[in-house]
Amino acid sequence: MASKKRIDSYTYLSGFGNHFTSEALPGALPQGQNSPQKCPYGLYAEQLSGTAFTVERKQNQFSWLYRIRPSVCHEPFTKITESTNLRGSFSRHDTQFIPNQLRWSPFPLPSDSESLNFVFGLSTLAGAGDPILKNGLAIHIYCANKNMEDMAFYNSDGDFLIVPQHGRLDIFTEFGRMLVSPNEIAVIPRGIKYSVSLPDGPSRGYILEVYGHHFELPNLGPIGANGLANPRDFLTPTAAFEEEKEGNWSIVNKYAGKLFIAKQDHSPFNVVAWHGNYVPYKYDLANFVAINSVSRDHMDPSIFTVLTSKSAFPGTAIADFVIFPPRWAVQEHTFRPPYFHRNAMSEFMGLILGSYEGKAGGFLPGSGSHMTPHGPDATTYEKASNEELKPVRVADGTMAFMFESSLMLGITQWGLSEQVHVQPDYWKAWQNLKSNLFYDIEKHEKLYFP
Ligand SMILES: [Fe+2]
Repeated sequence: MASKKRIDSYTYLSGFGNHFTSEALPGALPQGQNSPQKCPYGLYAEQLSGTAFTVERKQNQFSWLYRIRPSVCHEPFTKITESTNLRGSFSRHDTQFIPNQLRWSPFPLPSDSESLNFVFGLSTLAGAGDPILKNGLAIHIYCANKNMEDMAFYNSDGDFLIVPQHGRLDIFTEFGRMLVSPNEIAVIPRGIKYSVSLPDGPSRGYILEVYGHHFELPNLGPIGANGLANPRDFLTPTAAFEEEKEGNWSIVNKYAGKLFIAKQDHSPFNVVAWHGNYVPYKYDLANFVAINSVSRDHMDPSIFTVLTSKSAFPGTAIADFVIFPPRWAVQEHTFRPPYFHRNAMSEFMGLILGSYEGKAGGFLPGSGSHMTPHGPDATTYEKASNEELKPVRVADGTMAFMFESSLMLGITQWGLSEQVHVQPDYWKAWQNLKSNLFYDIEKHEKLYFP
């Protein structure tokens, strides 16, 4: 699958971590200062901080928004009492920590009788830690069939890395508009308001939420300056606003894992210009530059890391977002599929397109799996152990991904309920891996040479 830009009528700024500037009206950005006595066009200046004021300069993230009315112009928030499947607490009482391999059939799209927008269609599958302590992560599934009409959402708990699997997302953010298709991802950092429309109708996808450090590009070490996700392929929206669209707007806030709602009489998408490095962005996974072994052995999946959110321990992520993109396999004398492994990290896998190379069946687009010891199934093992090792294309037409965490993931009630389908026979995928030992233990002799 060649790298190509998708057609998307919105305009974007290219780069990762840049300090961008954007104006929807000429001259709307103040020059030489952030907070003049009077801003151009009579706009209000508002700073949005993504980090503490005092973190190291290279980590400091903030943006200045120039808007028709400041964000504070809303009525009080009240807690949403209707039950949702969203969770923000992962103690042993709230979730189950299970040492079994788990696999889910594709998560169901909303039925015709349901009416769910992106926010109310969020269900938490697994997680660890606590947003109150700014430490941990959550894995959510969204299934929606309705636009967020006159509604904006912002998340005080963490950053959302959104992985659409079925249907595009048209996302109007305070910073402008993004169209995000399956095989692209979007990141909306903590505190940024947005509204999601569904141009293709019923839609489904995965979300990785991190409570602590924002997502960043992984270090490349000996790889050098280029490769994996290149910075210029990340796209940030350009300023766009709705002129004082009066109405009955709802602002929904996820705060310490619970949803709150407030009313206001005007659109929150009233930012005429902005500058800063604390911004939403999207990335086309087809642009990922895969690096792999060109001699022997299967490499560890960390070589496919797109973005990482670090923990306090150097080299150890709270969460990595890893993909398994189309590429060449050329290794000699090698069992080429993912090897059998038992990791220190917890893995959740999902599938956006096609079929995953490590499993012959049962893992369809829209599915998920969460694993302790694992590896290829018997069919894949037999095939890969005996096939001729010519250079071959791998994973064409597919895109599997992994949310990987150094924390132990608790599975929510929803994730084990009848609203989803946990495959009861997943463990059997490995039961027909037979012994191939060619040594007779009782006679202490080799039986044959393979
Ligand atoms: Fe794995």
